[in-house]
Amino acid sequence: MNLYLASNNAHKIEELKTFFHKEGLSMLQLASAKEIGGMPDVAETESSFVGNARLKAEALYAQAPEGSWVLADDSGLQVDALEGAPGVYSARFAGVGASAQACIDLLLEKLEGVEQAKRSAQFVCTLVLLGPGKQEQVFEGIAPGHITLGNQGESSFGYDPVFIPEGHQETYAQMGADLKNTMSHRTRALNKLARFFRGL
Ligand code: IMP
Repeated sequence: MNLYLASNNAHKIEELKTFFHKEGLSMLQLASAKEIGGMPDVAETESSFVGNARLKAEALYAQAPEGSWVLADDSGLQVDALEGAPGVYSARFAGVGASAQACIDLLLEKLEGVEQAKRSAQFVCTLVLLGPGKQEQVFEGIAPGHITLGNQGESSFGYDPVFIPEGHQETYAQMGADLKNTMSHRTRALNKLARFFRGL
């Protein structure tokens, strides 16, 4: 089974290959969008993660050989006290091209004066899989937690230094990738995807 990933991010391909290998999903031949003409530019204009993931999946599906599968993802942080913001704007919360730290600074500024108990948040990862005949499957992973008062740990990715997952005392940045990967929104969504492929 040929599965194309709707992303230009080489790291995401490697991460997914490792995941499928670990899960014993050897029937999946994962390939990058590059092999079928490259990932088209997609404006993420939808107001939901699933909507934006679907836009990316459909754009690449239009270029994919018949009978293949396409997988796209979208993810971000939703903060309850900010009515779900930054949400689909997570990467560009402080403006297009702004650094991760600029986005964190804006988030902390908006949460100034909000007490610990009201700083609940969740990371969400939505995967859209299109199969032969454009059949769609959606998988969602959620990681609940809360936002700290300031950076804790070296910045690794995005909002990692200010997010403490439920049941833990350290931020994603402090705990490191291996522990984060056991509980992350992305892992939870990928586990659902693996279950789907196993059931075929
Ligand atoms: P993407 O859809 O995976 O590119 O994620 C969009 C944005 O959400 C990223 O640029 C980050 O700002 C934020 N984000 C998503 N997942 C994570 C995570 O695991 N840690 C920190 N930030 C994340």
